[in-house]
Amino acid sequence: MAEIEKKPVKIVETVLRDAHQSLIATRMTTDEMLPIVDKMDKVGYHAVECWGGATFDSCLRFLKEDPWERLRKLRDGFKNTKLQMLFRGQNILGYKPYPDDVVEYFVQKSIANGIDIIRIFDCLNDLRNLETAVNATKKEGGHAQVALSYTIGDAYNLDYWKKTAKQIEQMGADSLCIKDMAGLLVPYEATRLVTALKESTHIPVELHTHYTSGVGGMTYLKAVEAGVDIIDTAMSPFAMGTSQPATEVMVETFRGTPYDTGFDQKLLGEIADYFRPIREKDLENGLMSPKVLGVNIKTLMYQVPGGMLSNLVSQLEQQGASDKFYEVLEEVPRVRKDFGEPPLVTPSSQIVGTQAVLNVLTGERYKMITNESRALLRGEYGQTVKPVNPEVQKKAIGEEEPITCRPADLLEPGLEKIEAEMSQWKEQDEDVLTYALFPQVATEFFKYRAAQENKIDPAKADEENKSYPV
Ligand code: CO
Repeated sequence: MAEIEKKPVKIVETVLRDAHQSLIATRMTTDEMLPIVDKMDKVGYHAVECWGGATFDSCLRFLKEDPWERLRKLRDGFKNTKLQMLFRGQNILGYKPYPDDVVEYFVQKSIANGIDIIRIFDCLNDLRNLETAVNATKKEGGHAQVALSYTIGDAYNLDYWKKTAKQIEQMGADSLCIKDMAGLLVPYEATRLVTALKESTHIPVELHTHYTSGVGGMTYLKAVEAGVDIIDTAMSPFAMGTSQPATEVMVETFRGTPYDTGFDQKLLGEIADYFRPIREKDLENGLMSPKVLGVNIKTLMYQVPGGMLSNLVSQLEQQGASDKFYEVLEEVPRVRKDFGEPPLVTPSSQIVGTQAVLNVLTGERYKMITNESRALLRGEYGQTVKPVNPEVQKKAIGEEEPITCRPADLLEPGLEKIEAEMSQWKEQDEDVLTYALFPQVATEFFKYRAAQENKIDPAKADEENKSYPV
């Protein structure tokens, strides 16, 4: 009998980034991560995703931690495992486009502080918004992975994905990721999509999904059979629900097949034992809500990512309009269509979601238009796959000419000015970037840090800290 060719599936572990971003609002602390790093380093993961996405903002805003310090500590601990981060293209780790010099410097410092693989995506899949980050990553000797923001809609057929994947390969990306942030990719569609992408490109293909709609594990199975090289999973205490399929489950699924990871299930069990009490504590204190743990089939019906669903719920609660939830959910696809049918991922998910809430609560569509909606309709975030609704665009920007060039071409270099603005707080080069992304949050953090270091009235510093959820 002919020997079947072995092709172990590679695993990226997300428990230190996406899993806790999806389940506990990105509140896992560095102190909760460090004690288990040694064991995680022995598993044989392709990479551990541990930085970027919302972790940067959350460290500063809620945990009063320096995100750069977290990265350096993780780098010290992971001696054999590659570290991966998520990067929002020209929006870096923020919510709007930044000038090229800020993007380049951020990439440089991320790699200098320990990142090996940067996953770069754009919320509109406008590849021009990825060029600067991809080129900077390659220049710094990092692995540039480009992610397609996966979504469903008229424009998003197999030809679109194949054509875009080809362009990504030509940009010089080292690998490609299908980023299915809402868990919309169903198993047999995964077969078709992965087969098509493997036909059109020669670089490794990774699949990132969320368990939100309940099909994630099956989608991985079909994707691996169709030739996907890498899948993203989370250790079981922080898996499933709006997070990723569980690492141990996928490892066991492929045991004894050509895709066998060879991972030691006993070692994985010890790692799970470490995270389980953290999960229990977070369930007890309410940080982890049972709401995010089940299967939410509405995500397939409304094509809304899990994180966006919970944002809509809380926006409506704040307005005392929880009864409008389903009206808003039905308004989301309409706004999305008016806005050129973008994928829904940060920041487009927030822009579309907030506008849908306003359209319902004011009782008249586009009676109020947010600045972010205006910017999107003006082309400031880049080009949408389909044209925007011209009437809505006119309502938002009047006779103004929309932008058609790469949006960052219109932004002046920013670093020098930013450094001058924040020089009184600068203790390390990286502080300039922290401030560039979130000026107000960074300033508050710098004040807190200075107070801690000078040991000025620790009671007062403590008091200040209490106003932040932990
Ligand atoms: Co994700």
